[in-house]
Amino acid sequence: MDSEKIDYLARLWIMEAAAKIKQSFKETLDIDVKSGRNDLVTNMDKETEAFFVKQIKEHFPDHRLFGEEGMAADVTDLNGVVWILDPIDGTLNFVEQQRDFAISLAVYEDGVGRLAYIYDVSRDELYFGEKGKGATVNGRTIPKLDPTVDLEDALLIANLSVTRKFPTMWEAVKASRGLRLHGAASLEYMDVATGRAGAYLSANLAPWDIAAGKIIVEELGGIVTRINGEKINMLEKGSSIVAAPKIHQTLLDNYLP
Ligand code: IPD
Ligand code: CA
Ligand code: CA
Repeated sequence: MDSEKIDYLARLWIMEAAAKIKQSFKETLDIDVKSGRNDLVTNMDKETEAFFVKQIKEHFPDHRLFGEEGMAADVTDLNGVVWILDPIDGTLNFVEQQRDFAISLAVYEDGVGRLAYIYDVSRDELYFGEKGKGATVNGRTIPKLDPTVDLEDALLIANLSVTRKFPTMWEAVKASRGLRLHGAASLEYMDVATGRAGAYLSANLAPWDIAAGKIIVEELGGIVTRINGEKINMLEKGSSIVAAPKIHQTLLDNYLP
């Protein structure tokens, strides 16, 4: 694939989409409830996804996209070039707080994560990762994760679904420096990528929640698996644990089944 062309256009589109999202702060949002009252979708989620679908079709007709709002063709394999998009990750935060939400975009080639973009809209921070070339935030290199950092030296981010399913995780929380939760999986992955947190666990995430974050975190030496330690299939929903290497081991060995 032509990584240079993809990179140039992806950045352009992300900035354009983010500008429209910021503009929407001044307008009334159209909000629909999806599976329940805490699962929302706004006109901006839909418009942002439609914008990327249109651009990718026009500039890369042989590429496919799958995104949360389901506006592109059904993707049942990762052959060729597949873009994975969460147009707004953290929609509840977007609606309630106008902060702590992101555009998350990843480009996979034959199942391998190549390029990743996570744009923290309210902070104007663009996280970027490229397979084999490391990761940056707003162009500054993100240092590799410290392989010696263990649970007692780090903050832990855990979705309540995890502590409900695995009560032993409360012991892990006690062993850590404390518990945090922001409500946008992609940005929680970036907390781990930058060392602001040692691990983030969630019981049920979709491919678009983690596709970009996984590429970036792995470039920095972090480990991403299912909560049972298994490899992630990027076409399926499921649990996720992302952590600095020693913390990943500690959690699996001592606190998880
Ligand atoms: C959600 C957020 C949230 C996570 C949910 C996701 P959305 O994404 O990432 O942090 O706990 O599982 O669905 O719906 O705001 O794109
Ligand atoms: Ca999401
Ligand atoms: Ca979303």
